Amino acid sequence: MKILITGICGFVGSTLARELRRHRDGFEIVGIDNLSRNGSGENLTSLREEGFDVRQGDVRADADLRQFGQVSWLIDAAANPSVLAGVDGQTGPAVLLDHNLVGTIPMLEACREWQIPFTLLSTSRVYSIPALRDIDLEVSNHAYVPKTIQHVGTVSRRGVTEAFSTEPPVSLYGASKRCAELLALEYGITFDFPIWINRCGVLAGAGQFGKPDQGIFSFWIHSWLRNRSLKYLGFGGHGHQVRDCLHPRDLVPLLLNQFDAGSGHNKPKTVNVSGGAESAMSLAQLSAWCEDAIGSHEVSRDGGERAFDLPWVILDSALAGNTWNWKPQTPTVSILEEILEHAHQRPDWLEISK
Ligand SMILES: NC(=O)c1ccc[n+]([C@@H]2O[C@H](COP(=O)([O-])OP(=O)(O)OC[C@H]3O[C@@H](n4cnc5c(N)ncnc54)[C@H](O)[C@@H]3O)[C@@H](O)[C@H]2O)c1
Repeated sequence: MKILITGICGFVGSTLARELRRHRDGFEIVGIDNLSRNGSGENLTSLREEGFDVRQGDVRADADLRQFGQVSWLIDAAANPSVLAGVDGQTGPAVLLDHNLVGTIPMLEACREWQIPFTLLSTSRVYSIPALRDIDLEVSNHAYVPKTIQHVGTVSRRGVTEAFSTEPPVSLYGASKRCAELLALEYGITFDFPIWINRCGVLAGAGQFGKPDQGIFSFWIHSWLRNRSLKYLGFGGHGHQVRDCLHPRDLVPLLLNQFDAGSGHNKPKTVNVSGGAESAMSLAQLSAWCEDAIGSHEVSRDGGERAFDLPWVILDSALAGNTWNWKPQTPTVSILEEILEHAHQRPDWLEISK
């Protein structure tokens, strides 16, 4: 059975390729990547050495998607995943939307023609920025936590649920993923093929490309080890902002359950998937871990507000857990340890990821 992963040379795509092959005999994993992410060429080489059929190609090109012939499942891990994409002066908004949104159409067309499942890796960034900022927070142990259950059914200390607002503004990146979600759902209903949308919180692990705006755990630990400048941005410059954390290998049992469900007509199509509250930490807490594991290092403070900064983002994955009997396996501390080990092995990683 042939599985096509787009964006296979990215952090998540390459992890899924290796883990899917490890989980199930009989899967032939193939993939394309346009190598637009700095560092992705590293995975092109290593995946080929490991025997994967990986080719340079773009999701926007029909011929690139169809060069392996018919496949049985398409997993989309191709995107520009930065919340600053489209507004950072490096990638214009039209280019971002072309890759993240317009590029979804040829993939959906292929799935429609082949009547195969389409798995979209979406993001917590589809949730409304003002609504997330409205959550009443307090500081506990150097990290924000919601004061009480403020909106029953949509947010609690366990995180925000799928029912939480997706009203703009959500960032151009978030909008590109939200629109891709809607298109995928519409295609699936109209042309009767399975669509699985997994809204992921922060995904992290060794080998993730790390920049301040994307791959924060990797960026922070590599920078700490290399004595590079680090800054707490926004929210008074205290580093109290909180994110959850999931290793992408933990996605695999969930993706396989969804694939095995076939049409899965009675299952929810869109679920949150995250490490949840147990995995969550603030930047200040991450610094405390780095201090213990590596040694002291100064972090400067810049409390100024930026458009897309959010103080607290945790996804409640109860729906995915209950529907698919799924839960995260890798504790955050193991994720941090594997990133640190990788940082020791790869002193060049921040340059490669830039
Ligand atoms: N990493 C996270 O924390 C996170 C969280 C939520 C959702 N996601 C989603 O997971 C997916 C993978 O993210 P990642 O962290 O591996 O990012 P990544 O940048 O490491 O990987 C994305 C890959 O897609 C490739 N790509 C981009 N545009 C392409 C195109 N038009 N055609 C073919 N390849 C293209 C890039 O070269 C890169 O190798 C993305 O869809 C992202 O939105 C990631």
